[in-house]
Amino acid sequence: MYQRGKRTVWVTGATSGIGRACVMQLIQRGDRVIALGRRLERLEQLQALMGAHNVHVAVCDVRSLDQVRRSFEDLPPDFAAVDTLVNNAGLMLGTSNFEYTDSEAMSTMVMTNCMGVLHNTSVLLPSLKSSGRGHIVNVTSIAAYYPYLTGHVYAATKAFVEHFGANLRTELASQGVRVTNVAPGRSDTEFQIVRAGKCADAPTAGLPQLKAGDVAAAICWAIDQPKHANANSIELVPACQTLSFR
Ligand SMILES: NC(=O)c1ccc[n+]([C@@H]2O[C@H](COP(=O)([O-])OP(=O)(O)OC[C@H]3O[C@@H](n4cnc5c(N)ncnc54)[C@H](OP(=O)(O)O)[C@@H]3O)[C@@H](O)[C@H]2O)c1
Repeated sequence: MYQRGKRTVWVTGATSGIGRACVMQLIQRGDRVIALGRRLERLEQLQALMGAHNVHVAVCDVRSLDQVRRSFEDLPPDFAAVDTLVNNAGLMLGTSNFEYTDSEAMSTMVMTNCMGVLHNTSVLLPSLKSSGRGHIVNVTSIAAYYPYLTGHVYAATKAFVEHFGANLRTELASQGVRVTNVAPGRSDTEFQIVRAGKCADAPTAGLPQLKAGDVAAAICWAIDQPKHANANSIELVPACQTLSFR
C-alpha cells in the first residue's frame, strides 16, 4: 500500500491555476515539490507561502530541453530523488478558426503542450525508474476526446499527449512507473485569459467551471492509488458541462 505523502514531485506550470493548486495540495499532505514555471516572481511568492524546505522553485521554459535538463541537474540534494512528474504546463492561444490562426501561435502550442511533455518526461524518466515507485501524470483535456469549433491545434496537442501517455504506459508498466492522463473540462484558471489574449471576453465567460483545486485533487487521488493500481485516465468536468465548450 502506498504511504500517503513523502513523495518528491516535479510539477510544471506551477505559477498559476491547476499547477499551483497541485503544489499546495501535495505539500499540505506531506510531499516535497519542485515547482517550475517562467514567472520567477510567482514562484518566489509560492515558495514564501509554502516554505523553502517544502518547495524548490526553478524558472524553466518547458519548450527548451536544455532548461529542463539544467533545472534537474541543479536540484538541491533534498529534492533530487524525484519519483513523480506532473506534466501540467500548457496553453491555448487564439479564439479563431484554424485559417485565421498564425503560425507562431500554432508553434507555441505544439512546442509547449507536446514538446514540453516530451522534454520533461525524457529528463525525469531515469529518476522515476530508479525510485521504484515512479508516476507520470499528464494534464491533458477533454478537448482531446470531443471536437469543438476553434479547438483545432490545441485539441490536437492534447490528443497527442493522451496517446503518448497511453503508449508510454505499455513500456513502463513492467518497470515500476505508472502513467495517468487527467483530462479536465472547463476550469477556472488563467487559461482563458492566456487564450483570449487581447480579446475582451474569454469564450467561456459566465459558464460554470471547475476550480483548479478540483483538478489538483484528482491528480493527488491518482498518485495515492496503491502501488499495484494504475489510474489510466480521469475525465473531470463541471457537472453541467456536456461538450468541450458548453
Ligand atoms: N483551464 C481549463 O479550462 C483547462 C481545461 C483542460 C485542460 N487544461 C490544461 O491544464 C493545464 C494547466 O492550465 P491551467 O488551466 O492551470 O492554466 P493557467 O492558469 O494559464 O496555467 C498554465 C501554466 O502553464 C505554464 N506555462 C505555459 N507555458 C509555459 C512554458 N513555455 N514553459 C513553462 N511553463 C509554461 C504557466 O506558467 P508561466 O506562464 O509562468 O510559464 C502556468 O503556470 C494546461 O495543460 C491546460 O491545457 C486547462
